[in-house]
Amino acid sequence: MELKILSLNEINLAIKDEIASLLRRKPNAILGLATGSSPIGVYDELVKAYKAGDISFNEVTSFNLDEYFGLSGDHPQSYRYFMNTHLFDHVNILKSKTHIPSIDKNSEDYYETYDNKIKDHGGIDFQILGIGSNGHIAFNEPGTSFDSLTHIVDLKESTIKDNSRFFNSISEVPTKAVSMGLKSIMNAKRIVIIITGKNKANALKRLMDKGISTDFPASILHRHPKVTIYADKEAASLL
Ligand code: F6R
Repeated sequence: MELKILSLNEINLAIKDEIASLLRRKPNAILGLATGSSPIGVYDELVKAYKAGDISFNEVTSFNLDEYFGLSGDHPQSYRYFMNTHLFDHVNILKSKTHIPSIDKNSEDYYETYDNKIKDHGGIDFQILGIGSNGHIAFNEPGTSFDSLTHIVDLKESTIKDNSRFFNSISEVPTKAVSMGLKSIMNAKRIVIIITGKNKANALKRLMDKGISTDFPASILHRHPKVTIYADKEAASLL
């Protein structure tokens, strides 16, 4: 696993550059996308690159990692809303090619068939990840099986607490979510994980210093041949 310690701005530009070169090489690439604060700067750079005429999303398909259970797509805290407002509404991606796992049996993105759908598209070429302070990736909390595919999750107290900053009160935070599994994520051909800020320093230290264990879900990434961790100085302060 490669570790790059850069400024936030350099991280955003480096990931944007990699996606831009992928899209030039393969205009119909499959992107695996994350929500949360970590990828926002990358999405801003992608929007800028699109507006400058450097990249096109016309043939791109995207698969998001996860979605809260019980929030509709127009709820400001739903991940569909997040993706629309931070990226999809500002570039020429076709909304019909943007996928977010769903618990709705009638949805074409129903979680039980989500992994097959990704496979049918040829698999994820480039996956962006963030990490939770407890080591979760997507909503795969500690204890999740390394063999997990897209599934329904009960969110841990620590994650509900971390995410409550986006809601009016902690009681409004959904307690369940739909999430790609650890195996689904490991199937991606290339993975970048963004780890920034002081509050991620312990997580980065754990990821770098200790072995692979389901207690710390992100540790499975050590087994993937093409992962880059993009960290800033604050997150790397305990290394
Ligand atoms: C979001 C996701 C989560 C976040 C993680 C970090 O789609 O999969 O695992 O990446 O909770 O969130 P931030 O980036 O807000 O610190």
